[in-house]
Amino acid sequence: MQVDLNGRVAFVTGGGNGIGQAIARKLAGNGASVAIADIDHEGAKQTAAELPSAIAAHVDIRDVAQVEAAIGATLDAFGRIDILVNNAGVNTFKKRVDIDEFDKDEWHRVIGIDLDGLFVVSRAALAPMVKQGAGRIVNVASVVGLTAMRLQSAFVAAKAGVIHLTRSMALELGPKGILVNAIGPGSVMTEGTKKLFYGEDGTFHAQQRNFMAHIPFGRPATVDEIAEGVLFLSAPENSYMTGHLLMVDGGWTAGFMM
Ligand SMILES: NC(=O)c1ccc[n+]([C@@H]2O[C@H](COP(=O)([O-])OP(=O)(O)OC[C@H]3O[C@@H](n4cnc5c(N)ncnc54)[C@H](O)[C@@H]3O)[C@@H](O)[C@H]2O)c1
Repeated sequence: MQVDLNGRVAFVTGGGNGIGQAIARKLAGNGASVAIADIDHEGAKQTAAELPSAIAAHVDIRDVAQVEAAIGATLDAFGRIDILVNNAGVNTFKKRVDIDEFDKDEWHRVIGIDLDGLFVVSRAALAPMVKQGAGRIVNVASVVGLTAMRLQSAFVAAKAGVIHLTRSMALELGPKGILVNAIGPGSVMTEGTKKLFYGEDGTFHAQQRNFMAHIPFGRPATVDEIAEGVLFLSAPENSYMTGHLLMVDGGWTAGFMM
């Protein structure tokens, strides 16, 4: 899809790697200036360096002062913020276990980044958008926010929170000219998931072939396929959709494959 984002400014969290990097490239490829905010400063700098008009900010989205500084730096560099993509997120790093054994600190870490961090960034980015009387927010949720999966309760709860927070934000911000939507990726072939789920060469482990059998398309998404959805939700062409959850999941949540 090609849209005209010339003169628009996007702030993308977690844009140094994976899906966020593809989103930053996609928005820039359609004319936007992009601020890439990531705890991985090197990744953010590398992504920014390859784009025609971009800055990199070293940000932990849980840290209000760092987030506000990055929003300030974006306004200094480009004068406005039109699009916020809340993409930064983590799942549990630990061995996946049932809720009765789930580590309390790990719970707070995942919720702290995926849900609290999204709130912190949204709040800071909203000040210029409200002043402009216009803006777009795209929250990156997940299929597991809609239909749960075992052994990752913190991630499931955080993403369900993101989906419903999106609706709440849409209600409050619609009268202020700001559209708020969420995107729900299924399994996505990033470097991270390649190591976790698939062979380094992208071939599926036996367990994953089983998993893929539950997805009508039988394969994970590319990062570019997720970025296309974000582009549509960010574009001027989307002028009447807010509070929506756009699933880009190869049919995962359409029903049960037998
Ligand atoms: N990959 C998948 O299969 C998949 C599926 C559904 C949803 N998602 C969601 O998509 C988003 C991107 O995931 P990804 O697969 O590209 O992951 P990734 O690990 O490749 O990238 C995540 C990015 O977020 C950054 N980040 C992590 N914690 C941060 C923090 N506290 N502050 C700032 N930046 C931080 C990381 O440095 C990284 O650049 C996440 O919200 C994830 O939950 C991914």
